[in-house]
Amino acid sequence: MSGKKAQLTIGDQNIDLPIYSGSVGPDVIDVKEVLARGYFTYDPGFMATAACESKITFIDGDQGILLHRGYPIEQLATQSTYEEVCYLLLNGELPDKAQMENFSSSIRHHTMVNEQLQFFYRGFRRDAHPMAVMCGVVGALSAFYHDSLDIRNPEHRRVSAIRLIAKMPTIAAMCYKYSVGQPFVYPRDELDYSSNFLRMMFATPCADYEVNPVLAKAMDRIFILHADHEQNASTSTVRMAGSTDANPFACIAAGIAALWGPSHGGANEAVLRMLAEIGSVDHVESFVRRVKDKSDSTKLMGFGHRVYKNFDPRAKVMKQTCDEVLSALGIDDPMLELAMKLEEIALKDDYFVSRKLYPNVDFYSGIILKAIGIPLNLFTVIFALGRTPGWIAHWQEMISNPYKIARPRQLYTGNTQRDYVAPSAR
Ligand code: CMC
Repeated sequence: MSGKKAQLTIGDQNIDLPIYSGSVGPDVIDVKEVLARGYFTYDPGFMATAACESKITFIDGDQGILLHRGYPIEQLATQSTYEEVCYLLLNGELPDKAQMENFSSSIRHHTMVNEQLQFFYRGFRRDAHPMAVMCGVVGALSAFYHDSLDIRNPEHRRVSAIRLIAKMPTIAAMCYKYSVGQPFVYPRDELDYSSNFLRMMFATPCADYEVNPVLAKAMDRIFILHADHEQNASTSTVRMAGSTDANPFACIAAGIAALWGPSHGGANEAVLRMLAEIGSVDHVESFVRRVKDKSDSTKLMGFGHRVYKNFDPRAKVMKQTCDEVLSALGIDDPMLELAMKLEEIALKDDYFVSRKLYPNVDFYSGIILKAIGIPLNLFTVIFALGRTPGWIAHWQEMISNPYKIARPRQLYTGNTQRDYVAPSAR
């Protein structure tokens, strides 16, 4: 509690509302008392609502700052590894050597999926969107791992967390293999997390895949840049599902479903489709005119963010990684030139400047994923894989503390009570 109070006056009632301070960031006003006075608060889209207390991730959208457990994303992306960031998000501190080895070995121990899971894949059409497959398969994990479903048992929760982080690359690669009609490739324990994923994607029983360390590093960095982002739509969905005491696999499947939309994780796929539609730098200006035209629903995908009103710090690292990967591979992708032109024009244009619209994490990620050889319809699956430790950390944080079922109220504007009319009388 900050000692400060907010005063709300409704008619002749004065209500004192306590104000709480976090370690950093805006204070929050506790509005619970308004319920006792017969009111609800109204905030569609949760624009001004802090739905929980959390110690995991902090964002200052005006300054373009993103911290995981206090550590800046730029430092984690360039100096840490994805596995270490997973440990950090889940446990709150960076691991020492023994803790890291132990964590890493637990992950490696759980990379395989139950052999029967492959029959789930076979039930899908080959041309199904991989997010549809991933959502179904991750939800189905709860039918296989009954020994870690007791959400009140901390050891069960720990094992479920490890299982999810360990199996997501296997599940994601199986989504790809199924879509192209190739046999599934089993994980290899001696490989690091990202190299293992790339090998499961691109090896076949006839030809092994030699992992290019530049690509493995880029993949790892992409996973780090997606690892968590405080109370975004998919994480809030995971928390909401978790508040009903649903099992962790079901909660993460709910998060995957929420992530799929083009306003959220689906934007990385949408950016590349947009760049392909624009086609060449000559068409950039006419495309930007369409985006600004209010009678046209076209959006500049990969731009804008609910929280960032400045550069998304993830976008800066992503752009730098994009340059590194393309130059290391000797790729001259016209999509990069197109994206840069689009960014340059948008950043000077009053429409975007006045609305504080900047490139977000999805603007450049697709160009790197394409260079790595990841197909377009798998981009959002990569986002889901990367976001898994964040979802689990938030679910764990909620379950380990007192919580209530998430149950918003509404401003009802429908019909008031009326009597049923028989069909013959309508
Ligand atoms: N292109 C054109 N106009 C835009 C865009 C855009 N990408 N984003 C916002 N605007 C306009 C919007 O039309 C509105 O204009 P006006 O005030 O005239 O009505 C104004 O900017 C404010 O936008 P908003 O829709 O009220 O903002 P929001 O916070 O509700 O939406 C957003 C945030 C991310 C959904 C939106 O910016 C968007 O749709 N961006 C494109 C999709 C995208 O790249 N999503 C990935 C987000 S980052 C990855 C993740 O965390 O999931």
